[in-house]
Amino acid sequence: MNRNLALEFVRVTEMAAVSSARWMGRGDEKAADQAAVDAMRTMLDSVECEGVVTIGEGERDEAPMLYIGEKVGTGAGPALDIALDPLEGTTVCAVGASNSISVMAIAERGGFLNAPDTYMQKIACGPEGKGVIDINESAEENLRRLAEVKRCRVQDLTCIILDRERHEGLIDEVRKAGARIRLIGDGDVAGAVSCCVPDSGVDLMIGTGGAPEGVIAAAALRCMGGDFQGILRFRHDEEIERAKKMGITDLEKVYSIEELAKGEVMFVATGVTDGTFLKGVKFKPWGAETQSIVMRSKSGTIRHIDAVHRFDTKPRY
Ligand code: FBP
Repeated sequence: MNRNLALEFVRVTEMAAVSSARWMGRGDEKAADQAAVDAMRTMLDSVECEGVVTIGEGERDEAPMLYIGEKVGTGAGPALDIALDPLEGTTVCAVGASNSISVMAIAERGGFLNAPDTYMQKIACGPEGKGVIDINESAEENLRRLAEVKRCRVQDLTCIILDRERHEGLIDEVRKAGARIRLIGDGDVAGAVSCCVPDSGVDLMIGTGGAPEGVIAAAALRCMGGDFQGILRFRHDEEIERAKKMGITDLEKVYSIEELAKGEVMFVATGVTDGTFLKGVKFKPWGAETQSIVMRSKSGTIRHIDAVHRFDTKPRY
């Protein structure tokens, strides 16, 4: 995978972030998401690759753009699979809360699990916990193990958990174990990535969120040396049927980070609203400023890109 492509892909998330950030706090999730989708779709066409969307806005019949299987890119260049979420955290963007991002992960053909649009039980941690965490163990045991390798007490650890009713038991368990919790309204890709960001104050992410987001987060954590495991969690029979059609036979399988995102992968994200690891879009009289992160699993390089966008020279904004 040509490393220069990473910069091309940042331009894509930058534009999606700027477009959706216009809708921050305006209470219209659909419009914010649509703005991000339109911008991402437009920008992707300029990237020299033979891209296929493997994680996208949905099945072909339910998403007019960036649907699963859609071809993107110029059609000339490397064959790439693209897992994307033009606006991860639509609700938080619509209410102006923190941690909404525009995000893409890129792999060589066949690199991503074709995750159905269902839920995934997830556990994520930074490099110290790699090979130590186990999704089949209790939260208490995972915290104990993590504290041991981090040479701290469980009370010093902070867990990110999506603030959902389904997590009531999990939250109780973590509290009883003595760890601290940061409950988030949305955006568990950012939550998982935070586990690998020094000084984020986050050690572990656990709980159930979107399966597509799980694949994207796994790609990010591959680049950062962290760990991630997931089990698909289906809401109803129709989802199970869909998954079977997509070739998933073992419904209880624990997916390792490499099974979710294998081979060489890249991850790019741009902040839409301010968050734990990225600042949101700031509009200026002359344009906008964005903050992005670009990572490659091959080199393990993590780049932070602060960009200044002038609207007078960029008519498409
Ligand atoms: P959207 O980008 O679709 O708004 O997803 C936000 C999100 O919070 C994800 O980060 C998370 O994986 C998923 O939704 C959780 O799903 P639910 O809101 O149904 O609990």
